[in-house]
Amino acid sequence: MSVRVRAPSEYNCLLEEGGVSALSERVGATVLSTSRHDTLVIGQRLGQLLQAGDVICLQGELGSGKTCLTQGIAAGLGVARPVTSPTFIIVNEYALAGKRHMLYHIDLYRVESVAEACATGLEEYWSGDDVCVIEWAERARSLLPPEHLWITLLYRGEGLRELQFEALGARPAEMLRGLAGVFDEVGGRPESRPEVPACS
Ligand SMILES: Nc1ncnc2c1ncn2[C@@H]1O[C@H](COP(=O)(O)OP(=O)(O)O)[C@@H](O)[C@H]1O
Ligand SMILES: [Mg+2]
Repeated sequence: MSVRVRAPSEYNCLLEEGGVSALSERVGATVLSTSRHDTLVIGQRLGQLLQAGDVICLQGELGSGKTCLTQGIAAGLGVARPVTSPTFIIVNEYALAGKRHMLYHIDLYRVESVAEACATGLEEYWSGDDVCVIEWAERARSLLPPEHLWITLLYRGEGLRELQFEALGARPAEMLRGLAGVFDEVGGRPESRPEVPACS
């Protein structure tokens, strides 16, 4: 897997090759996943880092890997049950062994507007102490808590997905720093990294 950490100019962050270091509470990183396995590994590491109340927002077209990443996250949280896309029922709930909080896997694909999300009471899920992973999170953007890790997944060709991470707030920035290890582990040596298409 190839990893490039980027510092979009608006983030005011200190760029370190293979790592993430923030000067402010808003940091970003971009990772190129070259297989479903890569995405699962990144998700799993993220899942291991998650604590009660953490919110992970996923944005990306159908097939971009949102559910795959969520499966990795669930594995990292110790969920043994198979994690499938909750597309038809909006929310799947998973108990976490030894924890008082749950994992809510929320899929807003069938939610057409923020008003609908609001009316459905979805906000309740991410207002408590549970871990939430939200697919199609942009459909409820104005209802989301201010602190969250936003991950945009982009199709970059057969087997390739670009994962753009944006940490909004101190806690998501900590998660992102915690991920620097997996970026290094699976990222190979800088000189062997292929070029990653520029992010818009
Ligand atoms: N690098 C990759 N990361 C994630 N999925 C990938 C990757 N390359 C190919 N795939 C495939 O793309 C599909 C992603 O599906 P899924 O995770 O359900 O997407 P979404 O939830 O965004 O609609 C799967 O069939 C998976 O095997
Ligand atoms: Mg999905």
